[in-house]
Amino acid sequence: MGKLDGKIALITGGTTGIGLASARLFHQEGARVYVTGRNPVTLGQARKSLPPEVSILEADSANLADLDRIIGQLKAEAGRLDILFINAGVGEFRPLGEASEPHWDRIMDVNLKGPFFLTQKALPLLGKGASVVFTTSVVDRKGFPGASVYSASKAGLAGLARALAVELAPLGIRVNSLAPGPIVTPIHDKLGLSAEDLAAFQASVSQQVPMKRMGTDEEVAGAALFLASKDSSFMTGEEMLVDGGAAVS
Ligand SMILES: NC(=O)c1ccc[n+]([C@@H]2O[C@H](COP(=O)([O-])OP(=O)(O)OC[C@H]3O[C@@H](n4cnc5c(N)ncnc54)[C@H](OP(=O)(O)O)[C@@H]3O)[C@@H](O)[C@H]2O)c1
Repeated sequence: MGKLDGKIALITGGTTGIGLASARLFHQEGARVYVTGRNPVTLGQARKSLPPEVSILEADSANLADLDRIIGQLKAEAGRLDILFINAGVGEFRPLGEASEPHWDRIMDVNLKGPFFLTQKALPLLGKGASVVFTTSVVDRKGFPGASVYSASKAGLAGLARALAVELAPLGIRVNSLAPGPIVTPIHDKLGLSAEDLAAFQASVSQQVPMKRMGTDEEVAGAALFLASKDSSFMTGEEMLVDGGAAVS
């Protein structure tokens, strides 16, 4: 028997990295899984690597019309949503002097505005026992140079989770955050670093983690399963770190 038997789950940003590993695990645990992504290449790769029962939807997390469309599809096909894992996110790093308004808007639209409005749009489908999980980050507890806007977006998301946990508790809906530390996923390939610089970056990051390594997407997926399932039934408003101890060092 799976931990998510009969559950309907939507995972945003489920085409690579943490979202893809979570989609695989949630499906193995018995959920009917929907994932979203935006890039046609990674959407196609996810289609090939995920089981055929997983639905892959093209939707930009920053585009409210796309969010209406996917919620409409879920309503028509499933009629309800038990697990809303809002995981899609972008990481872009700029020193204060080089940050621009488009940089601010790109990050905030995907990492904060989209999640807020997707939760609002999904609310009519979420019932008693539903679990909402936001992917935040260790950066909302710990400062890193160049990460100011990204950190603000993730700290904002953790704030949303706390407030919504209290607001939605009377409906039987739990809301928690999952804060990964450095995890090996394609997000780091998007930083524009050479292969050599990326390896040096990952080695230096690993040294800052008490466990002296980066985490894996499967390790975060296991934590997402915990927050999505009844195993965490008395948890709401919590931010759970999966960071090898990075936040406490
Ligand atoms: N990896 C880490 O070290 C780390 C640490 C802390 C927090 N996080 C957070 O973990 C989450 C997952 O990241 P990851 O590491 O797994 O990175 P990833 O492999 O780059 O995955 C990001 C996912 O989000 C999707 N996405 C990005 N922008 C989108 C948009 N506008 N609309 C729809 N989908 C979009 C991507 O799809 P496309 O390919 O279509 O863009 C992809 O499926 C993010 O919220 C990230 O901030 C990651």
